[in-house]
Amino acid sequence: MRKLGSLLVTGGAGFIGSNFIRGLLDDPAFDGRLVNLDLLTYAGNLESLADVEARFGGRRYFFERADIRDADRLAGIFKEYDIDTVVHFAAESHVDRSIAGPLEFINTNILGTFTLLETARNHWKDRQDTLFHHISTDEVYGSLGPTGLFTETTAYDPRSPYSASKASSDHLVMAYHHTYGLPVTLSNCSNNYGPYQFPEKLIPLIILNILDKKPLPVYGDGRNVRDWIYVEDHNAAVRLILQRGADGQRYNVGGESERENIWIVHTLCDLVAQQRGTSAEENRALITHVKDRPGHDRRYAIDCSKIKRDLGWRQTTTFEEGLAATVRWYLSNEGWISRVKSGAYRDWLQRNYDHR
Ligand code: NAD
Ligand code: DAU
Repeated sequence: MRKLGSLLVTGGAGFIGSNFIRGLLDDPAFDGRLVNLDLLTYAGNLESLADVEARFGGRRYFFERADIRDADRLAGIFKEYDIDTVVHFAAESHVDRSIAGPLEFINTNILGTFTLLETARNHWKDRQDTLFHHISTDEVYGSLGPTGLFTETTAYDPRSPYSASKASSDHLVMAYHHTYGLPVTLSNCSNNYGPYQFPEKLIPLIILNILDKKPLPVYGDGRNVRDWIYVEDHNAAVRLILQRGADGQRYNVGGESERENIWIVHTLCDLVAQQRGTSAEENRALITHVKDRPGHDRRYAIDCSKIKRDLGWRQTTTFEEGLAATVRWYLSNEGWISRVKSGAYRDWLQRNYDHR
């Protein structure tokens, strides 16, 4: 079992990263310290970590506002905290934004990952008691037909600027392992959902639009399939990989919960109605089929038997439980939502959804 001493978590103010930080600091098996490095782009929100700051700030939790492309800042942070483990979440993460403006994705996801790898290599030299864990996506594998699953040996076939930039960063991580001997692990995960997700992604977007009685945009015929995983289950997999993952290995992580988008939108209409005591029919009447996402991948589905077999990981939250809990969270966190909705989010919706 690998001992985690001084962790650098990049992108810790985002959706998955903020949940990861809370989960790790609450894990009795972890007694190290953790530095959250985040640029606080539109997607970064320190309010998601206010409880963590209050409980652990200045002792076991530290925040550094920095850009993963800034080599000098990274070198200073590695030195100051003597980082021995990197968990690299920071990225531009939204496919629609990558279609509207790919450059930021190339810069952050490719150049940013490269800069972080270089910093780790320079700081760690030949140390083998270190680890660079890279968080990636199932989208690098491309799109499936009605059957079949992505395995760790499926050839990469990214089809959006987002997934191409993630594929490129994955290749760099593995290249640093093979060429320089950098200790690395990599995980390719399916669609996450849960608390603190920025409401540009399907599930929180639909919940908020139901509450605001706004149209519920369904791309194309709504029959595209994603494999959904509760964010806590993804983060439990990452914790296991950090402790016991084999050097140079990649692990697929998935929910084994394939659903068509339209099923999700219908279910959210029903769940909000149940929890608010309102009408599911009125919610469903808001569903609006809009122009499809260009190059919209049809189906993703993950075979996660390797991480189950090698590391003993299991999902613990069913999609039905997780979705109901997520709706409850959004219904009871109006302050977080209204502050997120008041700034960059509103401007983005007005400017960028021109393919709808
Ligand atoms: P997110 O968009 O919610 O958060 C990204 C975070 O990265 C934000 O806090 C942002 O401020 C930060 N960031 C962006 N550019 C930065 C930079 N240059 N320097 C430092 N920080 C920067 O993303 P998420 O949904 O939490 O995804 C996290 C990671 O997980 C990403 O690498 C993504 O590709 C991957 N992933 C996401 C999902 C999903 O369903 N959301 C699934 C599989 C993999
Ligand atoms: O598969 C993992 C990926 O999942 C991650 O790598 C990405 O970071 C994450 O954003 C997510 O990508 P998707 O494109 O699958 O997620 P999104 O929530 O944007 O869309 C989910 C599905 O819903 C997709 O088929 C497009 C559709 N959709 C999305 C939005 C925002 C709609 O029909 N209407 C919408 O308004």
